[in-house]
Order: sequence, then C-alpha cells, then structure tokens
Amino acid sequence: MQKVDKLLQQMLSQGVYVVGVGEGSETNAFTAAWVMQVSFTPVLLAISINPEHRSYRLLKKVGVCSINVLSQQQMSLVEYFGQSGLEDKMARGTWTAAVTGAPVLQESLAYFDCKVSHEIVAGDHQLVICEVIEARQLNAGRPMLYSATGTMDNSAELYE
Ligand SMILES: Cc1cc2nc3c(=O)[nH]c(=O)nc-3n(C[C@H](O)[C@H](O)[C@H](O)COP(=O)(O)O)c2cc1C
Repeated sequence: MQKVDKLLQQMLSQGVYVVGVGEGSETNAFTAAWVMQVSFTPVLLAISINPEHRSYRLLKKVGVCSINVLSQQQMSLVEYFGQSGLEDKMARGTWTAAVTGAPVLQESLAYFDCKVSHEIVAGDHQLVICEVIEARQLNAGRPMLYSATGTMDNSAELYE
C-alpha cells in the first residue's frame, strides 16, 4: 500500500473529542479522533479505541461515556488528554456528571452522553458502539479538525 498516514489524517475529515469514561470516583478521559455517527434510530455513535488504553478498561467495566467536542482553540486539551499514565488526569478541566453518570467536560462545545451498546473487533482497535442518551451544546465556537493536530498522536509510527 502507498504510504497512507498523511492522506488519512489530512484528507479524511474527522473531529477531535475528549471521551470521558467511568462514573463516580472511577473516571478517566482520552483524546479521540476516530468517532462517527453510525445510526439514526436509535442514535448510535462509534468510537474506535485502542484496547490497551486505561479508558478502555474502565469503559468495559462501567459501560457509560461522554463524547465532548473540542473547539479550534483547545489544542492544549487535545494534547493533555492524549497522554497516558498521568496520576490525576481528571484534575484538568471542569467535570460534571451527565445523566448516565459519565463525566462531562464543561469547557467543550457540546457533549453526547452515551451508554455502550456493543463492540466489534476492528484490527488493532475495538469499535465501541454507543447509544446517545442525551446531548447538549455548552459553548459557542467551531469544532477542531483532526487534520489540525498534525503529528501530535505520533500515528505515523503505528502503521506497518
Ligand atoms: C489527536 C489525537 C487523536 C487520538 N485519537 C484516538 C482515537 O481515536 N482512539 C484511540 O484509542 N486513541 C486515540 N488517541 C490516543 C489517546 O488519546 C492516548 O493514547 C491516551 O493517552 C489514552 O489515554 P488513557 O490510557 O488514559 O486512556 C489520540 C490521540 C491524539 C493526540
């Protein structure tokens, strides 16, 4: 295959989100670009997650998450929640509990509060299909695009 990493990132339009997982005292969050709507009725969103992420293990355990839309001004949040192994990752941002109990990032443009429906193996990721329980706009602004994040996710190194 022709070297595909740049074309995927620059030509396939995707947003950038912080996915909040867990509930109560057990929460975490991570940056995700691989998020898309996959059904009208019910409203389903798919998130493609690396099963090695701490957030994945928590999502499996608790079964709820929020998808928080970042604005073009929030590059530092993209970078921050793209890190793993932070001792108190949720110390950054203002978090409240959504209807499902999932943590919602109040600084985001909007959020989708979700319950996990099922999951599908997708190569080296898991495609987690989520039913949207509630959605709200929180702030005004323009959504960030994945193509604007450049090499931040080091994804070029992940292709064989
Ligand atoms: C711009 C960007 C997009 C990302 N998109 C995804 C994604 O769609 N799926 C995924 O599993 N990881 C994605 N990541 C990587 C995770 O955010 C990163 O591995 C994070 O450290 C996982 O956190 P955790 O181990 O605390 O759950 C992305 C990272 C960045 C910077």
